Amino acid sequence: MAKGFFISRTLAVGGGVLAVGAVATIIALAVVYAQEKASNAVTDGPSGPVTNGPVTDGPSGPVTDGPSGPVTDGPSGPVTDGPSGPTTAPPPLLPWQRLRLPLALRPIHYQLSLWPRLEPDAQGDYHFSGNSSVLFHCHNRTDLILIHCDRLQFNSLSGRLARVWGPGGRELHISKSWVQNDTQYLVVRLADPLKPGQNYSMYTEFRGRLDDDLRGFYRSQYVDENGQTRIIATTQMQPTDARKAFPCFDEPAMKATFTISLTHGPGYTALSNMPVSDNKTLTVGNVIWYNVTFQPTRKMSTYLLAFIVCDFGYVEQHSEGTLIRIWARKPAIAQGQGDYALNVTGPILNFFETYYNVSYPLPKSDQIALPDFNAGAMENWGLITYRETALLYDRNLSSNGNKERVVKVIAHELAHQWFGNLVTLRWWNDLWLNEGFASYVEYLGADHAEPSWNLKMLIVLNDVYRVFAVDALASSHPLSSKEEEINTPAQINELFDAISYSKGGSVLRMLSDFLTEEIFVTGLNSYLTKFSYDNTVYTNLFDHLQQAIKGKVALPASVNDIMSRWTLQMGFPVVTIDTEKGHISQKHFLLDPNSNVTRPSEFHYVWFVPIRWMRRNAQQQLTWLLKKEDANANMKYSGDDWVLANIDVVGYYRVNYDERNWNNLVKQLETNHSVLPIINRAQIIADSFNLARAQYRHTTAALDTTKYLHNEREYIPWQAALDNLAYIRVMFDRSEVFGNMKKYMLQQVSPLYDHFKSVTVNWTKPSEGHMDQYNEINAMSVACSYGHQDCLNKAQELYRDWMKNPSVNNIPLNLKTTVYCNAIASGGEKQWDFAWKMFQNATIATEADKLGVALACTKEPWLLNRYLMYSLDPSKVRKQDATSTISAIARNVVGQSLTWDFIRAKWSTIFEQYGGGSFSFSRLIASVTERFSTEFELKQLEQFKKDNEHIGFGSGTRAIEQALEKTKANIKWVKANRDSVNDWFASALTPTP
Ligand code: BES
Ligand code: ZN
Repeated sequence: MAKGFFISRTLAVGGGVLAVGAVATIIALAVVYAQEKASNAVTDGPSGPVTNGPVTDGPSGPVTDGPSGPVTDGPSGPVTDGPSGPTTAPPPLLPWQRLRLPLALRPIHYQLSLWPRLEPDAQGDYHFSGNSSVLFHCHNRTDLILIHCDRLQFNSLSGRLARVWGPGGRELHISKSWVQNDTQYLVVRLADPLKPGQNYSMYTEFRGRLDDDLRGFYRSQYVDENGQTRIIATTQMQPTDARKAFPCFDEPAMKATFTISLTHGPGYTALSNMPVSDNKTLTVGNVIWYNVTFQPTRKMSTYLLAFIVCDFGYVEQHSEGTLIRIWARKPAIAQGQGDYALNVTGPILNFFETYYNVSYPLPKSDQIALPDFNAGAMENWGLITYRETALLYDRNLSSNGNKERVVKVIAHELAHQWFGNLVTLRWWNDLWLNEGFASYVEYLGADHAEPSWNLKMLIVLNDVYRVFAVDALASSHPLSSKEEEINTPAQINELFDAISYSKGGSVLRMLSDFLTEEIFVTGLNSYLTKFSYDNTVYTNLFDHLQQAIKGKVALPASVNDIMSRWTLQMGFPVVTIDTEKGHISQKHFLLDPNSNVTRPSEFHYVWFVPIRWMRRNAQQQLTWLLKKEDANANMKYSGDDWVLANIDVVGYYRVNYDERNWNNLVKQLETNHSVLPIINRAQIIADSFNLARAQYRHTTAALDTTKYLHNEREYIPWQAALDNLAYIRVMFDRSEVFGNMKKYMLQQVSPLYDHFKSVTVNWTKPSEGHMDQYNEINAMSVACSYGHQDCLNKAQELYRDWMKNPSVNNIPLNLKTTVYCNAIASGGEKQWDFAWKMFQNATIATEADKLGVALACTKEPWLLNRYLMYSLDPSKVRKQDATSTISAIARNVVGQSLTWDFIRAKWSTIFEQYGGGSFSFSRLIASVTERFSTEFELKQLEQFKKDNEHIGFGSGTRAIEQALEKTKANIKWVKANRDSVNDWFASALTPTP
């Protein structure tokens, strides 16, 4: 069992020796195989003598054995956390009781071999085995090696869980080794301390389960054309699951190089971050195995590693010396579903090379679509993993929305290849800069690939307005967290929220705007160049942006001073422009102005606000608001004149005006709306509605901004209106107000419906522009959802034709979701069962997704309940889609209460199986509580929180607080607005002649 260790050790201690020799590989493989055959339990018995090969000793620093800190020495017995008296302070935590790694050791290089078994064992379980050598440098004297591991079983090596060598290849004596499960460490205590300035290496052999849990090294599966189940081994390391694949210093600042090798059987391909350097075959018994070794990686963080064994096909292209490949299930590739991704990747890579002015750091870029994947995509360096819907596109089956999703996700992940991967934030507390940055520049990259789509505008709807909804709550939180506050995997996972992504993206867009893009990219380039292969904190970026200004633009304060107001305090301001007095002022915008903000801010909720504004018939200008109130703002106007502030909603704030100005803007919408920029038409609507929700204005005044919509043909203002009217809808769709609302909505949407019906020749050909296609979808979905008869007839007719002839689906690609949903909503069991069958037979995930959403549209409670049961059965609904399916059912007015009962009854199952750090988990809580607007519902929610405190809410913890706060605001809002809103809808109806 011990034979062959020398290979890894030699390489590791040698430091510079990175290539694996052919013989070595085969021996390693044989070792792995032998190990596999042997029992895997950690036996503590003696093992045979270790025959070591020659030890090549790499350069190691001079022996600095100077004074160093005390050697941290824990007790040798098990750690018990006994109670301590009230007066005695708790004893300081032992190193292995802390969640953060000590700084004493830093990894240099790993040599890692993994062998995933794609066949189940006798119990039907899957597993992998592996061995790893890590070479590390000692900075401070210590007798402890702490390295992360999670759910790994270590083989016993001479009675210990590891072996350690020092300079000269001398093996060190381990006095004790154990796994500390709560903090996820392998702890190795040495008889004699490691010395500062020296390199050491540690070797381990281990086994893990290859589960379908979507994290670490995990298993995905699909059924091929012949009805055979095929297994894939793949990884998802971010943020803290690399330790579930192999023992590693699993923190982003512990950068190292990695030589990875994977073993697989015939018919499979092995992929990793780097290109293959060596491929060996080995026959063990009658079976052929392949051992593939990859080139050593660049210096990188563990969370960006990826290794995959699959039977996929690919399409490839070379773009300026970089090999680009798109991988997917073979039939998907054969049907051309990877072609679109392949076509846009080259241009996007080129765009980022120019934008960052840094060449793509790796020799290849692989992107792979996995049947089971928790997030949307993951930026592993050189091997980006995707959910199928985020990478595959079929021009004959997918919609333009699916296509946009693909180009944007690709742009997002490619942006990370530099920002995040080449230069990495030191700790997860700064995650917002990584994700926020990618969330901003994904629009730039996607816009470069699809310049005619005008994608850049969409950030306002998708990010700015989306995150305003949560950042306006007193339970929000600042972008930036303190390093010491973020420790547990759950705390880290919770940072992947709308604040990090969408607020991060929004404030960086604002920053790029007030600096000018030229200065922004200059600073960015200098940041990326300076910190390549290294780690940073977010202020490093601000410093480099500051240095790039060089007098080219005049700012009222330093970049850091301006930005601190946006990153260190939660929320955002509402800027009020009083054109009567000529004043401007700002106030922390809270959805419920009476809510208690318990989080103090050193800036007292005052921001440095860049205000781009224009006056009727005049040029744009930029004014900075640096205090609570500026009485000399020179914005005094009268008569028909108006002021419009926050042009293109580049600023992260809402705007309020005096009544006269509001009225003139609304008048302008009604007389000639094209004078106002498209995004600002959306803004006038969105800000009005939200100011009304926060009691700055009357809801009826907000509703007034929707009157002009019968003349509006642009998607963005319509979408803003629909998003806000959706709030009124969910508050009232169980009450009598809905009757008048329905009539009003039909009145407003009918011209849009007629317009698109004619443009598309009765829905037979799609509209031209990208945004027009979206608006066409809106026209149909809104008309149908409010009961427009012609629309419903059309939807039913299209669906009926498909049911008659299931092999021919003539439903226009963009309208599928709407047609499916409405046909199922107005149909019964037959319509539902047909969709269910088509869902199971879908050949592309975008199609399955549309059907999956539509299945939640039925009005039959028993069908909804059955669908809820299906959602937790992985043989029916993939685990990755469980929470989003439940959310979809919850959004259905009939399904909401059923889902609430279901979630309450099954919380512990849902939490245990689906709670681990997925975005959709917090969305689940948001969707099921979306309609809550009574005291009774509030009590139920409070009770739910109490009842399940012992189980926890994981990444949905904050979502519970947000839901409570929103419910309270809803209760007040409904009380205050029910009658006036009902009257307004009634009076806004033009009598039918
Ligand atoms: N790094 C994330 C993926 C991720 C998310 C890993 C959460 C671990 C936890 C990746 O860059 C990402 O942001 N993916 C997005 C897609 C993107 C277009 C917003 C996703 O998965 O939805
Ligand atoms: Zn990202």
